[in-house]
Amino acid sequence: MNDKYIDRIEAQDLTKEPPTEEPDRQYYFMKKCREIVKKKSEELGRPLTCSLTSFGCQMNARDSEKLAGILEKVGYELTEDENADFVIYNTCTVRDNANQRVYGRLGHLNSLKKKNPHMKIALCGCMMQEPSVIEKIRQSYRFVDLIFGTHNIYKFAELLVNMFETDSMVVDIWEDTDQIVEDLPVERKYSFKSGINIMFGCNNFCSYCIVPYVRGRERSRNPEDILHEIESLVADGVVEVMLLGQNVNSYGKNLEHPMTFAQLLREVEKIEGLQRIRFMTSHPKDLSDELIQVMKESKKICRHLHLPLQSGSTRILNAMNRHYTKEQYLALAEKIRKEIPDIAITTDIIVGFPGEEPCDVDETIDVIRRVQYDNAFTFIYSKRTGTPAAAMENQVPEAVVKEGFDRLLKVVQDTARERVSRLEGQVLDALVEEINEQDESLMTGRLSNNTIVHFKGDKSLIGQIVPVYLKECHGFYYLGEIWR
Ligand code: 5AD
Ligand code: SF4
Repeated sequence: MNDKYIDRIEAQDLTKEPPTEEPDRQYYFMKKCREIVKKKSEELGRPLTCSLTSFGCQMNARDSEKLAGILEKVGYELTEDENADFVIYNTCTVRDNANQRVYGRLGHLNSLKKKNPHMKIALCGCMMQEPSVIEKIRQSYRFVDLIFGTHNIYKFAELLVNMFETDSMVVDIWEDTDQIVEDLPVERKYSFKSGINIMFGCNNFCSYCIVPYVRGRERSRNPEDILHEIESLVADGVVEVMLLGQNVNSYGKNLEHPMTFAQLLREVEKIEGLQRIRFMTSHPKDLSDELIQVMKESKKICRHLHLPLQSGSTRILNAMNRHYTKEQYLALAEKIRKEIPDIAITTDIIVGFPGEEPCDVDETIDVIRRVQYDNAFTFIYSKRTGTPAAAMENQVPEAVVKEGFDRLLKVVQDTARERVSRLEGQVLDALVEEINEQDESLMTGRLSNNTIVHFKGDKSLIGQIVPVYLKECHGFYYLGEIWR
C-alpha cells in the first residue's frame, strides 16, 4: 500500500512551480525533500536518521504517525536514539508538567547539537500554539530549526524544505483552520491496529482546558473519507481501529449532511475484516441513547467506554463548564451498566480545581465508589494561562490538593483492583499486541474491555485475536494462559 505514495511523489515535476492544490503540493515538496536528504546522505556516506518523540494523547500519537509517514517517504531512517540527524518533539500542553519536560529535554538536545552541528531540531504540536512558548523558544532556545503547530502538520514536507533552504529558525503557526487535508502517507506504529481521526478540535471550552485554544474549532471528517481510510487499513492488515476525537459524541454536527456518531459506528461496523472498534473520548453531556443501543447490538465495538468525570461535585462541574450534574452522570453510568453489563468504564479526574474543598473531593470519591471504574486517570489541576479557570481567584493551596489527591487515588486503586479482578477464571479474547517488556517469554494482549493480559507465547501471535484464560489478577492486569 505504501508504494502508491512513492509513485505519487515520483510523478511530480520539479522543473515546474509547486502545485497550489493540496495534497499535490505536499507530494511536490516530498520529492524535493527526498533529493535534499539523498544528497546529504551521500555526503555523509550513510542514511540520515531521525528521532521523533510524541508527548501527550492519542491524537498526538496519530499526528506523529503522519509525520513519520512523510519522514520515511523522504528518506529518513527512524531511530529511537536522540543523537540523530533530525530530532522532532511533537508536544503536549494540557498540563504544565508536559511543557516543563520539553524544556528540560531541549537543554539536553542543545549539548548534542554542539557536538553534531548539522543536527536539525523541530518542535510541533499543541504547546507550539501558545504565543508565550514561541516567545520563550525564540529567546532562549535559538538552536531550534523549525517550529510548527497543530493546524498545518499536513504541510510538513513543505516546512522541511523551508528548513533546509534557510539558516534561520522557521516558524509557521496558524491560529485556526477549517481545512482537512486527506491522502498523505502514514507510518503506523502497529501493523494490526490504528487510530483514525474522525474529527479535529473542540468546542466545549471546559474552563480548565487549553485544548480548544490550541486545537481550534470542531471539524468532522466526511464519513466517506473515514470509511475509505478504514477499508484501506483493513486491506493492509489492521484488525482494530480507534476512532479519535476530543468529543466523538458530537461527531457529524457540522457536516454538510449531518450524521450522528452512532450512525457512523453502524457504517464502520459493516466493514468486512475489521474485528474491533474503539473510540475516544466521550463527553458525558453528549452521550446518546442511540450510541448505547449501537454499542449493545454491536459485535465489533469493544466493551470499553472512557467517560471523563473530572469532578463528582455539581458545584465544581458547574464552574468547570461541563454541562452535567453529579446525578446526571450517575444516571448515565447506571443506564450504560444496565444495558451493557460487561462494559468497563474508565475516567479522567482532576483534583484541585479552583474553589474545590475537601467536601467536593468526597463527592468525587462517592461517584468513584458508585460507578466502580476499571481505571481512572487522576490529574492534579494545572493552571493554563488564557483559560477561564486560570483567572479564578480561589486557587487551592498545594498541600490541600495533595491531601485530596492521595485520598482519592487510594479509592481509585482499591475499587479498580476489585473491579478488574471480577474476570478471574474466565476465558476471553485478547488481541496480541507485543512481547512483554519485562519478560521475553510472555506476550501482552488486550481484552475487548481494554484490560491487559500477559501470557506465554511467541511473537508469531502478534496481531491475532486469541482466547486467553485469565488465571490471576495482579491489580490492573492479568496473568493468563492461551486457551486451546
Ligand atoms: N489540569 C489538569 N488536568 C487537565 N486535563 C485537561 N486540562 C487539565 C488541566 N488544566 C485533564 C482532563 C482531561 C484529560 C485529557 O486531561 O481530565 O480529560
Ligand atoms: Fe478539553 Fe473539555 Fe474539550 Fe475535553 S471536552 S478537550 S476537557 S475542553
